[in-house]
Amino acid sequence: MYRSKFWGCCLRATFMAATRFWRRGASGGVPTCFVHVDHGKTQGMNTTEAAHYSQNRSFQHSFGVEVLQQYMKWEEGDTVLDAGCGTGEICKYISQQPGVASVVGFDVSSEFVSYASQNNSSPNVLYRAADVSDVSTFKPEWHGAFSKAVCLMVLHWVQDKAEAVKAIHSCVKSRGEILLGCVAEESRFYQTSQKMASHPKWRIYLKDFVPNLFPWPSSDLTNERHSSRLLEECGFEVLSCHIKEHQQPFESREKLKESLRAVFPHLHYIPQDKHDEFFDDLFEMAKDIHLISTDYTAGTNNTLVLHARKL
Ligand SMILES: C[S@@+](CC[C@H](N)C(=O)[O-])C[C@H]1O[C@@H](n2cnc3c(N)ncnc32)[C@H](O)[C@@H]1O
Repeated sequence: MYRSKFWGCCLRATFMAATRFWRRGASGGVPTCFVHVDHGKTQGMNTTEAAHYSQNRSFQHSFGVEVLQQYMKWEEGDTVLDAGCGTGEICKYISQQPGVASVVGFDVSSEFVSYASQNNSSPNVLYRAADVSDVSTFKPEWHGAFSKAVCLMVLHWVQDKAEAVKAIHSCVKSRGEILLGCVAEESRFYQTSQKMASHPKWRIYLKDFVPNLFPWPSSDLTNERHSSRLLEECGFEVLSCHIKEHQQPFESREKLKESLRAVFPHLHYIPQDKHDEFFDDLFEMAKDIHLISTDYTAGTNNTLVLHARKL
């Protein structure tokens, strides 16, 4: 059913010089490293805390494993690209699937790539830093090299989706497959993020906050939302286009809070001594919007899952 039931590591020095900058948080405390992507886009997650993300990504992990199991049929000799691999757990999971020969994972955050290399290494996995929307940061040998590519929970942090899809397309072999998972418009996560940015109590701290969540636009979905114009224009045949609900229970308020901390960049702007108060309001907002429930389950209602083949 189309709408299913709901919810090292060496980035080249020149690229790093151009893309990273340090900014002191609103608290005036420890500097927070943001990765600055070209065209003024700012990578929104806190990618300085790779260990924190790795320990608080159960939502992303269960989503990733579920869609990989649902859509990807691994074949002997598969070479797989993971675009926006984060801290590498999904690369490691893919590398262990029967038939998979090798995996390359890349991420715009050199901190995440470094963490992945140290904590999720495997003889058949390679990690690199690169920007999915800037093909010039890709290794030349990636061109046409992969039988499959995945990009899970990444493209809502990337404004220029066409460049990203084209860049991934350039890495995939003819008849190769891609699997994309991305927050779509009208999602509870997106609504909560927007509302917290304009919250009367917090907007004074958030005046420099640049909205950096770019959900997949509904207007891209065609054929009664069974296909994606963008993917077709970039040279893919869409095999499946599905709006997925995904739910993840957390064992405590604290665990859920840490998982939200990893993906709500607003916190960089809120003074440290007000974080607890901010979280209280974030929880209330997220409950109102049904992003979370009183039993500490997080549920997304509008995650787009696209499975496609290169023509
Ligand atoms: C929610 S995490 C998902 C990570 C991983 N796919 C997973 O499932 O755990 C989003 C990731 O996208 C990465 N990212 C954001 N913008 C990117 C870009 N332009 N190029 C490559 N990676 C990017 C972030 O650094 C972060 O690691």
